[in-house]
Amino acid sequence: MSLPSYVGKMKGKHFLNTNDFTQEEIKEILEAARDLRKKFRERTPTNYLPGRTLFMLFYNRSLRTRNSFEAGIYQLGGHAHFLSPQDVYTPTLPEDMVPYQTESIADVARVLSRYGDAIAIRIYGDAAKWHIGRGHRVIQEFAKWSSIPVLNMEDDVYHPFQALADIMAITDVAPNPRGKKFVVSYAYSGGLKPLAVPQSCILIGTQFGMDVVLAHPPGFELEDHVIQAAKENADRYGGSFEIVHDMREAFEGADFVYPKAWSPKKFFPPYNSKVDKDGAKEYQNKFQNWICTQELMDLTNKGKYMHCGPADRGQEVIDEVIDNPEYSLYFEQAENRLHVQKAVMAMVLP
Ligand code: CP
Repeated sequence: MSLPSYVGKMKGKHFLNTNDFTQEEIKEILEAARDLRKKFRERTPTNYLPGRTLFMLFYNRSLRTRNSFEAGIYQLGGHAHFLSPQDVYTPTLPEDMVPYQTESIADVARVLSRYGDAIAIRIYGDAAKWHIGRGHRVIQEFAKWSSIPVLNMEDDVYHPFQALADIMAITDVAPNPRGKKFVVSYAYSGGLKPLAVPQSCILIGTQFGMDVVLAHPPGFELEDHVIQAAKENADRYGGSFEIVHDMREAFEGADFVYPKAWSPKKFFPPYNSKVDKDGAKEYQNKFQNWICTQELMDLTNKGKYMHCGPADRGQEVIDEVIDNPEYSLYFEQAENRLHVQKAVMAMVLP
């Protein structure tokens, strides 16, 4: 079988944040993903990574990420090992070690590097003690010690594979999205969700020159370093970045809307002295009117509805919006996870 030119093109690279890659590199990943999508739909074999092993370490639950990575590596000729942190000695940062219950990430990363070809990790929320940035530090620690690529399957700062799937869905609709209005809006959920998706969304949108509008109530600010990076992307790639505090105002004239819950970070360290999950839930309960309805969709420029999943129906969005085949990209985004992850694995695995 002849290999496409993208196989091995970024050999050995970690994939932790889309902003670590240039716009050109992201476009190459999307091109590879579209080739793999075509072959998947045609049932053309893509045995580009025979015998490779992907270790998947999930500190949190998952439907899309786990199944798309596992199916994806198999479709490329390799296989996946699912690792639950409860079933191994939990890979842990130096300050959290417990004898014979945990193992240092430095050691786990070096051991797995001798058995396989990539390590994929998901960690946020309770698993990262709700200290925002701690989950990302775990993944960075793996990347520091691993001699095989580390893939970020979502931490408490970034969800880079979701962002790839999202920009693939956007560029399927608008091949040149520069100047399109992309609204990343808070929407209510009774649960506590990480900041990773909105943060990666504003980064990828500005990296593609879109006019990105971030909408949220007070208290739901994203991290300063991510806002700064989004502004720099906008300057560099010719788009714009704006923050508003009204969902209706944001939706007016939008081409793409991404209403999605995240947690009010002021209740969590390092932005407060203690983790206050009850306080955060009580606070966010004030914003149950931040829900994506048909009335809001009618304000858009025939805009497309987006959500990474799982969506909280009746809280973040009403059924009639998310299930509307005219404008909802919900299942396209979910499907694209498979194709973009296969593309990155084909490009970075040894
Ligand atoms: N969007 C996403 O990462 O979904 P899962 O939590 O189901 O993996």
